[in-house]
Amino acid sequence: YIDKVKAREIFDSRGNPTVEVDVILNNGILGRAEVPSGASTGEKEAVELRDNETRLNGKGVHQAVLNVNDKINPALHGMTPFNQAHIDKTMIKLDGTPNKEKLGANAILGVSMAVARAAAIATNQPLYRYLGGTDLELPQTFHNVINGGEHADNGIDIQEFMITPVERINFRDGFEKIVNTYHTLKKVIEKRGYTTGLGDEGGFAPDLKSSEDALSMLHDAIVTAGYTPGKEIAIAFDAAASYFYNKDTKKYNFEGKTYTPDELGQYYAHLLQEFPEIISIEDPYSEDDWDNFITFTKKYGKQIQIVADDPVCTNPRLIKKAIKEGMANSILIKLNQIGTVTETLEAIRLARKNGYTTMISHRSGETGDTFVADFTVATNSAELKSGAPARSERVEKYNQLLRIEEELGEDGTRIAHFPNDVDFD
Ligand code: PGA
Ligand code: ZN
Repeated sequence: YIDKVKAREIFDSRGNPTVEVDVILNNGILGRAEVPSGASTGEKEAVELRDNETRLNGKGVHQAVLNVNDKINPALHGMTPFNQAHIDKTMIKLDGTPNKEKLGANAILGVSMAVARAAAIATNQPLYRYLGGTDLELPQTFHNVINGGEHADNGIDIQEFMITPVERINFRDGFEKIVNTYHTLKKVIEKRGYTTGLGDEGGFAPDLKSSEDALSMLHDAIVTAGYTPGKEIAIAFDAAASYFYNKDTKKYNFEGKTYTPDELGQYYAHLLQEFPEIISIEDPYSEDDWDNFITFTKKYGKQIQIVADDPVCTNPRLIKKAIKEGMANSILIKLNQIGTVTETLEAIRLARKNGYTTMISHRSGETGDTFVADFTVATNSAELKSGAPARSERVEKYNQLLRIEEELGEDGTRIAHFPNDVDFD
């Protein structure tokens, strides 16, 4: 049973405070988890509790830590760690608000993940096996190698330019191709006279003038590394359009110009034509612009993957609405957007039951915790995005997949890679 739940304030990859939780069982087993934190957050995300005092720019999490130690700890004492749903429901009830604002989603999620980890250790299983059972496959991974938007101080408004291996190959082979492309990209950027400093997710953050420049560099890097664009390495991007939408004018202020929703759609169409290796677009429209997001899906949903992040925030209620209205054909999944393991599993089930793919995601503020890698395998999610193959808080997730692949052997190789005939069950 759970003997003690204890939290502390630690720091994330951006040097901001975050919550770490230890769950100690009566037999002395320790499960530990660290909570990530986003920068381009959706408005409907569960509340990340910050102290808002002068200390550490107001970002301290002492209150969230106290909530774990003084409120959640006594409530979970004596409970079995093996009933994750019961643990999570107990915390949801204790909080009592729809968006976890009282205890904080950062407090609740830390406990939720640490309980799962303690339970896995107690049953002598790797986390992915404890959460997922058998018949598990490694995901196709999406690597953000040029950072823009809220993740870098450059002129590019599209937030993430990703590369992904699309052949039916094992994870290691695909990852090696990504690493080769990443190193080649550095040379391409240097050759074009830009700096190669990194953004928050380990991708390069050159001060380019336009997103088209970024895509053209990616295209060059793929070719120069010796791969066929679209066939071996494809491109995906997250526009994170909520961050360049003007709610008053209902227009998009994008890279020095103003676009109506229609014009933005034409711009995306132009990109798809110029770079046919683009297979997936996330958040092409703002979370406040469902209608145009839906129109875009109607137009391009058969041709490419369209991922909804900010509009749905891993929230089953919003995902239901998105499915009903025909928004996107894929759902981005972030544990800390909703705040418990159980609700995240529910979000994934809901999406997949309705034929949507699920892309599991890290946050731009990350920790060394590799929970999300195990979680992706456990839920047989065909896709994971966890940043560039650089900076340990990103690479550790991929290293964990390498370890898992070693354990699963050939059985773990995903048969179908997007955009081929993907079976998502
Ligand atoms: P965030 O960005 O972690 O900064 O919110 C990730 C995303 O928008 O997908
Ligand atoms: Zn996003």
